[in-house]
Amino acid sequence: MEYRYCGNSGIQLPVLSLGLWHNFGSVDDFGVATDMIVKAFDAGVCHFDLANNYGPVPGSAEENFGLILRENLRSHRDEIFISTKAGHEMWPGVYGNGSSRKNLIASCNQSLHRMGLDYVDVFYSHRYDGVTPIEETMQALVDIVRSGKALYAGISKYPRDLQLKCYEYLRAHDVPCLLSQYRASMFVREPLLPITDSDHGNTMHSAMQVAKEEGSGFIAFSPLAQGLLTDKYLKGIPQNSRAAKSTGFLQVSQVTPERIDAARLLNEIARRRGQSLAQMSLAWLLRHEGMTSVIIGTSSVAQLEDNLRTLDNLTFSEEELTAIDAVLSSQSL
Ligand SMILES: NC(=O)c1ccc[n+]([C@@H]2O[C@H](COP(=O)([O-])OP(=O)(O)OC[C@H]3O[C@@H](n4cnc5c(N)ncnc54)[C@H](OP(=O)(O)O)[C@@H]3O)[C@@H](O)[C@H]2O)c1
Repeated sequence: MEYRYCGNSGIQLPVLSLGLWHNFGSVDDFGVATDMIVKAFDAGVCHFDLANNYGPVPGSAEENFGLILRENLRSHRDEIFISTKAGHEMWPGVYGNGSSRKNLIASCNQSLHRMGLDYVDVFYSHRYDGVTPIEETMQALVDIVRSGKALYAGISKYPRDLQLKCYEYLRAHDVPCLLSQYRASMFVREPLLPITDSDHGNTMHSAMQVAKEEGSGFIAFSPLAQGLLTDKYLKGIPQNSRAAKSTGFLQVSQVTPERIDAARLLNEIARRRGQSLAQMSLAWLLRHEGMTSVIIGTSSVAQLEDNLRTLDNLTFSEEELTAIDAVLSSQSL
């Protein structure tokens, strides 16, 4: 495994992290979930990404993860980096959702209880809710870290115009933002590219560049576009795939002919590199300066093993990059 430092911190993360959004809930096969966690840890994937609402049912991924840790990795807590988040709907009533102090602090306590942990390594605000003042949410993160229930703070999916404000607040309170988590892949490149401010015509730095300049690590989620950037959907929608499952977040409507055409062309480029499309997709993200790690999801040990082999070839020739850019810019993805 290769490890990279998280921004200006002393923390290193594996370039491949494992996320438990799908495939680790109470509806999933506990044996397969256990095998994936243990295999990942054995391969050096020591960072596991969770959230209060992962399941289904919400909360069950944290419960299963806690059980798997206790049964298989009990003596390894200090070798493992665990993140969780709060901000999406979790329990009924007005306090079980959003970015309020009430929600974050109650949720952190609940997550620790479900996982059977004394602390998590990173606690994230899962999202900006559009209402709660940044100061309230960031102060809640500061207080969670101060209480010892998390070692570091992170932000997830924060709009570009609020990102800097979060970093400034956290830094001013001596809890610098360890990690900024954004959706990024060959199909979702916005967080990696400079953006033009439509009001003034200025070019603004990408979310990833801002994180780098501000000393925060940057971590990409859904790096395979939930499976679209693998060879999985090239011949239709297989049974048991995320798009086919009633509990999956990938909608059949997202498996568009344009994306499948692009995946087919990218698959050819990957084949010429001697890689699977999944491996090339992950390597492409990891070549970006400022990318600390990518959080993969897997539904089998075989997928995990395929993705781990990404590390065999992380470099691209100019020709390959140009060919990939041509595919990505010629499609409405
Ligand atoms: N901060 C946030 O708001 C947020 C949002 C979403 C995700 N996340 C984090 O990011 C993590 C990863 O997200 P994701 O699951 O969408 O990631 P992803 O890596 O883009 O997609 C994972 C899916 O791709 C397929 N796959 C993976 N490797 C494959 C391979 N080698 N060959 C063929 N298919 C393969 C599997 O689909 P099948 O299941 O169909 O086999 C797998 O479930 C989550 O678990 C979570 O921790 C964070």
